[in-house]
Amino acid sequence: MKTDINTSKNFIFKRFHRYRRNQKVRDAFAEITLSKDDLILPIFVTSGSNVSFEIKQMPGIYQMSPDRVIDYLNELIDYGLMHIILFGIPDSKDEIGKESYNASGPVPTAIRAIKDQFGSDLLVYADVCLCGYTSHGHCGIVTQDGLLDNDASLVHHSKTAVVYANAGADWVAPSGMLDGRVYAIRTALDDHGHHNVGILSYSAKFASNYYGPFRQAVETSLLFGDRKTYQIDYRTKRQPLGEINEDIRQGADAIMVKPALTYLDIISKAKEMVDVPIYAYNVSGEYALVKFGAKKGNFDERNLVLENLTAIKRAGANQILTYHTQDILKMGWL
Ligand code: PBG
Ligand code: ZN
Repeated sequence: MKTDINTSKNFIFKRFHRYRRNQKVRDAFAEITLSKDDLILPIFVTSGSNVSFEIKQMPGIYQMSPDRVIDYLNELIDYGLMHIILFGIPDSKDEIGKESYNASGPVPTAIRAIKDQFGSDLLVYADVCLCGYTSHGHCGIVTQDGLLDNDASLVHHSKTAVVYANAGADWVAPSGMLDGRVYAIRTALDDHGHHNVGILSYSAKFASNYYGPFRQAVETSLLFGDRKTYQIDYRTKRQPLGEINEDIRQGADAIMVKPALTYLDIISKAKEMVDVPIYAYNVSGEYALVKFGAKKGNFDERNLVLENLTAIKRAGANQILTYHTQDILKMGWL
């Protein structure tokens, strides 16, 4: 009369395969589902008109003049594009990167055109940094000894942020890893009445080897030194958390971890630690590895992309900046 559960045939071991038997059941138990509104597409804007050419190391990604950006967006919005972030390539570069706050530069021009055309249908972020605008390629002004002059550079970053906000950017995203940048930019924005423009800070940005193709995209090459004096050393794990806390203290509305795939532990820690939205940047090198690997026939590109991005979301990212956005949308991968 007594049934011994432990010896009953059905309960000797648990059959996990029941959760996986078919697509319906797998879908039912999926805990992380990627969707179109998780994605932010980076766009590289040049000056002039009717310019559009592909970046060699990033197949499928183009430098475009503002008019071509509009054509490009018109198409992608029909496929469900919701968020973009803009990077600029100026006509000329100088020691202090002053083209970054030229109100008729490529980025402000593009923002005005985008807002005219699409209004609030597109959420527009503008990356704020000097590296695309300085002749030496560093993210700020440099002193005699070749080091970043942090505090002098803050003024330029703040001016740039205000110019982008004036043009209509919804959010500004300071990526230069300068100390005090969030406070400086928040103060400048508020002084100009831009209380509703958000700050997405690239808080945990590591000195990474994965930025190679991007530097080609914005035509930056460092004339001297490297970015290790301001970007985070990847051998640390509490410093990035310190940077995140500090940026929030200074007024960041959202924070970013960058790159994404090799820093999932940081994303996950940040998610436990803070209550602001967390962004992750699936950077150019991560994109290039997938693209070239798929071109060689090593992977099914769709499946690889969805696995990578789902992993980033599973780690805790609320929003993902990724160059794969256009393929995902156009080919209906989601
Ligand atoms: C620089 C900046 C970088 C990226 C965005 N802004 C990298 C760098 O050169 O330090 C990288 C983006 C990518 O690799 O996709 N402020
Ligand atoms: Zn920079």
